[in-house]
Amino acid sequence: MSETAKIILDGKEYVCPIITGTENEKAIDISSLRSDSGHITLDFGFKNTGSTKSAITFLDGEKGILRYRGYPIEQLAEKSTFIEVAYLLIYGELPNPKELNYFSNSVGRHTLVHEDMRRFFEAFPTGAHPMGILSTMISSLSTFYPHSQDPNRPMEDIDLTMHRLIAKMPTLAAMAYKFAMGQPTMYPINKLSYIDNFLYMMFGLPVEDYEVDPIVADAMDKLLILHADHEQNCSASTVRIVGSSQANMYSAISAGIAALWGPLHGGANQAVIEMLEMIRNDGGNMQKWIDKAKDKNDSFRLMGFGHRVYKNFDPRATIIKKACDNVLDKMGIDDPVLDIARKLEEVALKDPYFVERGLYPNVDFYSGIIYRALGVPTEMFTVMFAIGRLPGWIAQWKEMIENREPIGRPRQVYVGATKRDYMPMDKRS
Ligand code: ACO
Repeated sequence: MSETAKIILDGKEYVCPIITGTENEKAIDISSLRSDSGHITLDFGFKNTGSTKSAITFLDGEKGILRYRGYPIEQLAEKSTFIEVAYLLIYGELPNPKELNYFSNSVGRHTLVHEDMRRFFEAFPTGAHPMGILSTMISSLSTFYPHSQDPNRPMEDIDLTMHRLIAKMPTLAAMAYKFAMGQPTMYPINKLSYIDNFLYMMFGLPVEDYEVDPIVADAMDKLLILHADHEQNCSASTVRIVGSSQANMYSAISAGIAALWGPLHGGANQAVIEMLEMIRNDGGNMQKWIDKAKDKNDSFRLMGFGHRVYKNFDPRATIIKKACDNVLDKMGIDDPVLDIARKLEEVALKDPYFVERGLYPNVDFYSGIIYRALGVPTEMFTVMFAIGRLPGWIAQWKEMIENREPIGRPRQVYVGATKRDYMPMDKRS
């Protein structure tokens, strides 16, 4: 007999099935609790609530394990490429040479965006944040491809939308950067690899030759792999919940970008560098800022420290820290902000407050440092994260559609005023 859990409410016993995952994760299935007993469960921030069954990413926060489709992140970061990992996440298996060739060529063919989109870029005010621009642009793609609105179209059409998204995201990100810099935009060169093409569109200029530095390209490829998926995080859950209303994929991904933008999620990589700069400008007194982070009456937090699920270490941070040291050494970078980062990490890792709460540097602590070293402007950091996370969002969307999941619609416990009658204006004090 399969395992069950018993819940006793008002003296009556309700039996709930226990669902066991392939990695022996256990969940109490309470889906019929409300109809059977009139009770719902309450869990702010969904800290203890599973929203779906998923076969994409497995992570164990206590042991610091992260696997995409069963493959350890350490192996993928070392041996794979971002485009291969994108295929793996979306289609479930590593591609054979023919499949990878088809996928890369298809992505390569769709890198251009409609010329009319340039006018949108021209309309944004100077200083507009590139995440706001990216989210808008991805949403607006739906208006250029209206025939792809229905998520229940044949697989070839869905494939085309997925490939278009992966192809156009770097083009739109680089355009946002070039417009912000007041530089001419660079058209994609489709014979270049995905990463080289993006670096060329970002840093190339029509007046000089641009050669991609292999150290930069390699570090960028690793960063995108490490960010490619992270199961039911804030932005992935957003994509699934928007998609569950049967809204088109462009809109769901655009909503995911908006969720990622927040400083408690992907926006942390930008916030890390801004915090380090603030500490430097304040005279570099590390202890003062650590004390502020520990003070419960102060809203300041050490950005890039702590994680909702990793309470021992973030496996991505271990890989990225190595890559970070490698890049800084090879590029011979000497940057006072990066020195502050190293010192802060050292001090915080020994402080009982951070140790007791399992607050370790997360992936965003190092990714901000590495992007800065690679010459990526601070405001573009979260955009880089979005490019990396895109295959994960697509895979989550696809899984949700294929599983025919119901519309996402949580319940609540109402705590407002009970029924009262409308009071005419002249009777109100
Ligand atoms: N600095 C100081 N104290 C912290 C920090 C921090 N960065 N993070 C958590 N804490 C403290 C909290 O005050 C709390 O202390 P208490 O138990 O005494 O009340 C305890 O640690 C637990 O923190 P919660 O906020 O309950 O943990 P939660 O899982 O809700 O939050 C989060 C995780 C949002 C990542 C948090 O650690 C944080 O704000 N970190 C800084 C922002 C950041 O780096 N975000 C990127 C995450 S990675 C990603 O999204 C890709």
